[in-house]
Amino acid sequence: MKPVILDVDTGLDDACALLLAARHPELDLKAVTCAGGNVGLDDVVRNTLTVLDAAGRPDVPVARGAAVPLLQPVRMARHVHGADGLGDIDWPRSARTTDPRHAVELLRDVLREAAATGELITLIPLAPLTNIALLLRTYPDATAGLREIVFMGGAAGIGNATASAEFNIWTDPEAAAIVLTAASELDVPTTMYGLDVFYDVVVTLEQARGLSGSPSAELARKLIEKRSSLYQSDGASIGDGGAVCAVIDPSGLTTQPFPVRIELSGSWSRGRTIVDTRDWSADLTSDPHGLSPTTVQVATAVDGKRYAEMWL
Ligand code: BDR
Ligand code: CA
Repeated sequence: MKPVILDVDTGLDDACALLLAARHPELDLKAVTCAGGNVGLDDVVRNTLTVLDAAGRPDVPVARGAAVPLLQPVRMARHVHGADGLGDIDWPRSARTTDPRHAVELLRDVLREAAATGELITLIPLAPLTNIALLLRTYPDATAGLREIVFMGGAAGIGNATASAEFNIWTDPEAAAIVLTAASELDVPTTMYGLDVFYDVVVTLEQARGLSGSPSAELARKLIEKRSSLYQSDGASIGDGGAVCAVIDPSGLTTQPFPVRIELSGSWSRGRTIVDTRDWSADLTSDPHGLSPTTVQVATAVDGKRYAEMWL
């Protein structure tokens, strides 16, 4: 089994990711940490506990993390995820409480334990990268327990929050810049599961209607129905769930190593992931000011049908 940690801002599609990570037989979900993003932190935490209850995984520790980005005010996406972040669906909310530790401390402890046992962890951030930036700057030694980071965020092509920027990176660009810089300094292999593939793992309404017989299947069906109705479509992408599929079966994802920088200023481009796809870019990336880009495995294509079947 692959040990994994999810960092989430649950979110309809984070919920799709959580269900898969909690129930897939090849994954060992060690912990889940929460950040403000799609909705406020209180809603994110309650949604996360609710999804794990539905998945029959009350054993997974869940910790509260950063409520707001490092620098800029919080901006949410209730128009995409409903007022409560879980599509305002009719579903009993969890009464479970969180782990007493802050998300950064839970991450630190689980990663240090992984370093001690040699069972290295894949970290899957699906939210603004605030918690992960704080972790890497506060406890860099914890990366000894990391196998890799596979994050949902960014785009080589167009954005969604703006024409330039994807929501998770746009929400906390400073955190994203810190994570990429620290990953490079600390030699943590990093994969960007961005918008270039994010919408391509689609579950149809017809497929979703076949999901029944357990609370997790019922919730999965409701998530797809809700996302489909929000997008006025006869199916919906599992969004963040695709990043979890990529950890389970990396052969379904095509990636290429590209230098990536985060745009921290710019009138209309703040929060953009600048992916340098020029084939001669290696010659141009050394920077006299030490602000070299980080080489990231950027997802460029996905076998959406295979991943949708895996999720179902
Ligand atoms: C990302 O932003 C959020 O709305 C989704 O949960 C996903 O993580 C897509 O841009
Ligand atoms: Ca998310």
